[in-house]
This record gives sequence, structure tokens and C-alpha cells, in this order.
Amino acid sequence: MPSEPTVNISSGAERLPMTVPSLMEHKRRGEPLVMVTCYDYPSARIVEEAGVDLVLVGDTAAMTVLGYESTVPVTVDELLVLVKAVRRGLRSPLLVGDLPFGSYEVSDEQAVLTAQRFLKEGGCDAVKLEGGGVMVQRARAIASTGIPVVGHVGLTPQTATALGGFKAQGRTADRAFLLAQDALALQEAGCCAVVFEAIPAAVAEVVVERIEIPVIGIGAGGSTDGQVLVWHDLLGLYEWGSPRFVKRYADLRPQILEALQRYSTEVRAGEFPTSEYTYSIDPAELSELRELLA
Ligand code: KIV
Repeated sequence: MPSEPTVNISSGAERLPMTVPSLMEHKRRGEPLVMVTCYDYPSARIVEEAGVDLVLVGDTAAMTVLGYESTVPVTVDELLVLVKAVRRGLRSPLLVGDLPFGSYEVSDEQAVLTAQRFLKEGGCDAVKLEGGGVMVQRARAIASTGIPVVGHVGLTPQTATALGGFKAQGRTADRAFLLAQDALALQEAGCCAVVFEAIPAAVAEVVVERIEIPVIGIGAGGSTDGQVLVWHDLLGLYEWGSPRFVKRYADLRPQILEALQRYSTEVRAGEFPTSEYTYSIDPAELSELRELLA
């Protein structure tokens, strides 16, 4: 536990908050957008200080922090706990909440009600949903109520089984054409941005040229208007490998493991805590206590 407040709530106050219109400004000016996933308060404080533009509380939380085998089981209630923690730590970045599997597909009404919970209860600025086809209509319904929506095409993990597993999408002209149509339809439905996941860089490039809203890529090459990476991938917090498109900017798991092992060794050897880490008491008070106990 921190011994004193560690939050410098003014640390991000100098930056202008990212807004939905400013996403478009970034695109117009050719300034790449930086997005990262985040799932808790202390991480949100770091993200804020790092000057990231957008934060996604992704349904990847299912796997990265909740230990599920896929993103499918995570519920709205589970995600909202994380969203609220992240919200408390953020000031400037645009906060996007991921609508989990089963929370928006059934009807426009279901989609709008779930999106509203992410804004009302979670404090999100926008929501994200996966897929084209009928999901375009869900995006349209949400956007029509004034809630900013981010689309997501290419590899859509919630429906990865139907896509043949976690593999790159849009690798034939026909599949890439469908993907382009979905992206354009999401734009037309009122999405304020769209995520392209795991598609060939050349496909992303030709589609991005035809899209007016910001495209944020993950495994879609360098031509998109921004990039998003998953927190645990970026920081090397997994014991298993990451997808091909992940660049690890740190390798924190071994460092955490080493710290925990050293702590265990010192506790077991009676080496921690030393006097440096303990409170003192006036000797007179201590003798009085001894007398009281006697
Ligand atoms: O849930 C998530 O983290 C995502 C990103 C991979 C874009 O959708």
C-alpha cells in the first residue's frame, strides 16, 4: 500500500484532453495516434503520464487480467469494474470501452443499452465493437444516440473461431474487398474511428487511402493513422509468446519474477524486514507496555 498519496492529478493537466473531433484533426495533420490497452488504476496513471492519446479497456482483459482462455466469457459487469478503475486514473486520453461478446449483437436496443452503461457507469468517452455485416447496423444504432463508436475489422477475436482461429485476415482479394466494404460501411454508419487487426500491410494501405475516419492498426503495418498494442504484449508480461505483430518495449515479467523470488528468499531467511523498514517506539512507552502486559 502506498504510504502517502502518490497521485499527481495535475501531471496530465497541461495536455489538452483528446476528443472525438481531435482524432480527425490528428488524421488531417498526419500525426499518428497512439493507443494502448489498459485495465487498472496504477497503469492508467502511467499511461496518462506517458502522453498516450487513446486508451482502450479491451475485452482482452478477459485473457490478460482475468485468466479466461478467450475473450468470449467476459461480462459487461466484469469489464465495467476495470473501466471505472482506469477512468479514475485518466485525464487526457480518450477512453474507449470494448463491448464484450454477447452484449450488443442481439438487437440495436441491446447494443445501445450496453453502450450507455459504458458511458454512464464506466465514464467512457466512446465504445468499440467488433465486426462488419449486421454489426454495422449496431454501430449505426449506437452512433445515432450520440455515443461515439469505434469499429473493429480484420481479426476480430470474439468471433475468431468462425474466422478459422487467430490468424491474419484479408489475404485474398475477395476477403480484403469484404473487409474494405465493412470498414467503409462502419464509417458510413457513423463510427468515429476503426481498428484494423492482423491484415497485410499492403491491404491496410489501399483501404486506408479510401477511408476518411482515423484507422488504428494492430498488425496492419505502418500506413494506418495510429497504432494500438495490448499492455501485456508491449511490456512483456506474459509467460507465453505474443503475436508476430507485437513489439515488446520492455520485458517486465522476468524482472517481477526475480523481485518476488528475492523477497521470498529474504523473508524465509529472516533478512526482511530490517530496522530500516520498521517503526520505533519511545523506550519509556515500551517499558510501560511491558508492565501493562505483565
Ligand atoms: O480487446 C482489445 O484489446 C482489442 C485490441 C487488440 C484492439 O480489441
